[in-house]
Amino acid sequence: MRTFYITTAIDYANGKPHLGHAYEKVLTDVIARHRRLLGDKVHFLTGLDEHGQKVEQTARAKGIEPAELTDGIAPLFIDLCKRLNISNDDFIRTTEKRHKDVVRKILQDLWAKGDIYRGEYKGYYSVRQEQFVLEKEKNEAGNWPEIYGEVTEISEVNYFFRLSKYQDWLIDYLNKNDFVVPLFRQKQVQEFLREPINDLCISRPKERLSWGIPLPFDEDYVTYVWFDALINYISAVGYGQEGFEDYWPAAFNVIGKDILVPSHSVYWPIMLHAMGIEPPKSLLVHGWWHLGGQKMSKTSGIQINPLDLIDQFGADSLRYFMIREMNVGQDSDFTMELFLGRYQADLGNNLGNLVNRLLNMANRHFPQGLPAPEVEEDPEITVHKQWEETRKAVLAGYDDFQFHSGLERTLLFVSVLNRYAEIRAPWKLAKSEDPKDREILRTSLATMAEGIRLATHFLQPVMPETAERIFGLLGQSNPELWEGQLDWSPRLTGTVLGEKTILFPRPEVQLQPE
Ligand code: MSP
Repeated sequence: MRTFYITTAIDYANGKPHLGHAYEKVLTDVIARHRRLLGDKVHFLTGLDEHGQKVEQTARAKGIEPAELTDGIAPLFIDLCKRLNISNDDFIRTTEKRHKDVVRKILQDLWAKGDIYRGEYKGYYSVRQEQFVLEKEKNEAGNWPEIYGEVTEISEVNYFFRLSKYQDWLIDYLNKNDFVVPLFRQKQVQEFLREPINDLCISRPKERLSWGIPLPFDEDYVTYVWFDALINYISAVGYGQEGFEDYWPAAFNVIGKDILVPSHSVYWPIMLHAMGIEPPKSLLVHGWWHLGGQKMSKTSGIQINPLDLIDQFGADSLRYFMIREMNVGQDSDFTMELFLGRYQADLGNNLGNLVNRLLNMANRHFPQGLPAPEVEEDPEITVHKQWEETRKAVLAGYDDFQFHSGLERTLLFVSVLNRYAEIRAPWKLAKSEDPKDREILRTSLATMAEGIRLATHFLQPVMPETAERIFGLLGQSNPELWEGQLDWSPRLTGTVLGEKTILFPRPEVQLQPE
């Protein structure tokens, strides 16, 4: 079986992780878990981008060596993955030998092939973006776009990668392939390619920047950080070695919209093409988390520390919020009100309440095991029908990376079950001795249990711990595959359910942004 290979961007190792980083890892994790539940063999990579000017400058400002800085930062990101319950199979650091060797081999090959040449560059350079910028990128007022930060004029001898040589190939490739998801973002790339592109300067003289991978054919230079970093996606899975084809090109690169053009959509496919390999199958591009309308980043200083939210609400609540709230591709605003609103309404009052209603009644009246359903009347028929619709919609949504709408539908089905419980009102039926009432009582608990079992499957990729807990409360082990599990076919008859429990405790303190 071919591997479903999925990656996140690798984060700059110059500061602590924030909600934006957490989101990308969670989104990628949800996709990875979803694919595993569908039966795919998955390989999930994340990691750290450790070279380059940003890291070197941050280290110098702290009076330490860049390696010391990144060695201190790496555990923070690794810990974030652990605490968010990210199921990555590998974590790459671009300072590792396995990565540096591949970068140098690729540089050597492209140099030998004539796709890298030496030349003189005169022009503008953005320190923040670590890239050369063009006069025409100034805005109408004659200023550089804010994202560039400080822009300086420089002139130096450097090495260039023949990007322009492959522009027509890329235009043609994009005309023939759906490469960027969502597709409207591919149009942005095509728009960018309307103008001729320049060759890419892929070196930095060591006297200006020493923290990088030395060029194999000129050790006075280090590799431009983007050329180095993009290669992580293939160095981690053994580019140049046997077995690489198991991973490539069936790969998905998950990235934020800020790093689509030009790095991932222009440099990356062209680099691969020049090396003689295919681009990844898809770039999956998500939007930004904003806080009070501004993007969260290390530079603006506006950050919510996701770890604080995990401490108080558990990883699953944060995962649920981020995936439910963000329509992949669009931006979203993070506010504590929204977070607490979803936590209480969706998780506490809807899902948690439903599970407890069932456990309460089942433990009190059927401690020896869950009864079988006996009657099928309008309320039951409605629930069955709603499940069929939910199942179709969620499966299709998840397949299209529409996890927010999949979750919305799943929680809507949970409301349907709560409404069903209110209509059948087993707590009232339990007081009656009438045989018909007893039948409905048994049916209603069996129906609620089956509905919860089914809905829980769709929570599995997003809320793995909660799903496992709920399955446990239903007397089930955590199923690793969806196959054969998603039909309405009551199978819990006779199982002894767990004790009533609070899945989503009321929050104690309100958190403030850092
Ligand atoms: N190091 C580069 C990526 C190299 S990939 C070969 C980089 N690092 S980053 O730390 O700035 O960003 C890492 C990822 O986090 C990017 O995909 C970026 O879009 C994402 N996010 C950073 N801030 C974000 C938000 N506020 N919201 C959502 N994601 C954002 O770029």
